[in-house]
Amino acid sequence: MQKLDELELPYLAMEDPAFAVDPLPHFAKAREQHPWLADCAFGKVVHQFDAIKDILYLDHSLVGAYTDVVDIMGARGTSWGRFQQESMLGSSGEKHARMRRVLAPAFTPQRAKNHRPLMKEVIARHLDEWVPRGAFDFEEFASLFPIRVMCSLIGASHDVIPSIRSSLETFGMSMSMDKAILPNLVEAMDVLDAFVQDLVAQRLKARKPAGEEDLLETLVSTLDDGGLSERELYDLLIFLFVAGYDTSKNALTLAMDSLLLQPELYQRCAEDLDFCRKVVEENFRFLTTSTIARTVTKDIVYRDVLIPEGSLLFFTVNVAGRDPTAVEEPDSFDPERAQSRRHIAFGQGVHICLGQFIARAQIEEGLHQIAQRIRNPRRTGPSSWRPFFGVWGLIGLPIEFDPAPARALEEVG
Ligand code: HEM
Repeated sequence: MQKLDELELPYLAMEDPAFAVDPLPHFAKAREQHPWLADCAFGKVVHQFDAIKDILYLDHSLVGAYTDVVDIMGARGTSWGRFQQESMLGSSGEKHARMRRVLAPAFTPQRAKNHRPLMKEVIARHLDEWVPRGAFDFEEFASLFPIRVMCSLIGASHDVIPSIRSSLETFGMSMSMDKAILPNLVEAMDVLDAFVQDLVAQRLKARKPAGEEDLLETLVSTLDDGGLSERELYDLLIFLFVAGYDTSKNALTLAMDSLLLQPELYQRCAEDLDFCRKVVEENFRFLTTSTIARTVTKDIVYRDVLIPEGSLLFFTVNVAGRDPTAVEEPDSFDPERAQSRRHIAFGQGVHICLGQFIARAQIEEGLHQIAQRIRNPRRTGPSSWRPFFGVWGLIGLPIEFDPAPARALEEVG
């Protein structure tokens, strides 16, 4: 058996901004030296599709690496540090299972389906506001759409959006491993905390009657029966806003970026919602947003390598769909490909994304209407890239286009 620290592994400079711009050649080179493992500045990287899937399933030997990340960031004792360590992704065992039980009924595929009319309405209004401009930064446009959907789903007024959006942007850098931004993270945490505390206080003064419950009502009612403590409720609400914000925005922006180069696929998205679904799934395979971090809590032996307790592992889910050992012709963007291996954009194991059905529904509905109203989109300038660690994606996607009028909602289908 080989020991992890005795292996000669390639180094992936994932902390380097240049790496984030074009990571795939680095992974191809790393694969030549070791089929599934590499070193990085903060731990080891598991980069092969099957290895990511197999090891992420070993939940009994892993925990979300939030204590390690808080230490790397020097954030013990800060409000952001406390949140990271205690939040849903940082929790395990019975505490995590309890949180999951509280949220699960609100996140079923059927519930996501029921929310589609609301999503259609939100995106239609958002497009009405933005399309007449004829040119804008698609990333900025896309950032406002999921946050509006989240406010509507949770039951928060859309008036709060300007005041929390920049805090959500900052919070999206939580796992970027950049110590310099700690003061901004703490400030963002405090803004979001005050926001959710106010949201809950308002709701406690005016409860929703039976039959009209929204997600906030469902969550607030857990205070009555002791399902969640007040602090857990605030943290969960913050977590839901954060988890659904830049992931969805970045996924939609990455999809648009791919489609700018494939106008015939974009045109089909305008005509056919079912085809949009295929494009969205293919895009989750092609490039997605998240790197998952775990600390090993019990020794793991995998493919004859001993991964000892205490190891910090990064799983590059964001580029795993481009692994040629798992996917045929991984660099071709083909929405009609046989999905012989499903992508792992939403993770694997007990922490698999609870919001995945909502995320899919809002991106599919969004793309369908965007393709109808933003005709013939052209890129008008360059993008840059977010840090590769954490939630990756494009910064800025300037486009111009031919504006098209709204169709009646019933016609949008
Ligand atoms: C394209 C959009 C999204 C992507 C790519 C995404 C990705 C992920 C990933 C990879 C994880 C697992 C992280 C880990 O194992 O450490 C996760 C967890 C989670 N996501 Fe998402 N997510 C998206 C949208 C959403 C939305 C819209 C919501 C809520 C409205 C949401 C709620 C959650 C929750 C609650 C968890 C934690 C589950 C747990 O700890 O048991 N996500 N997401």
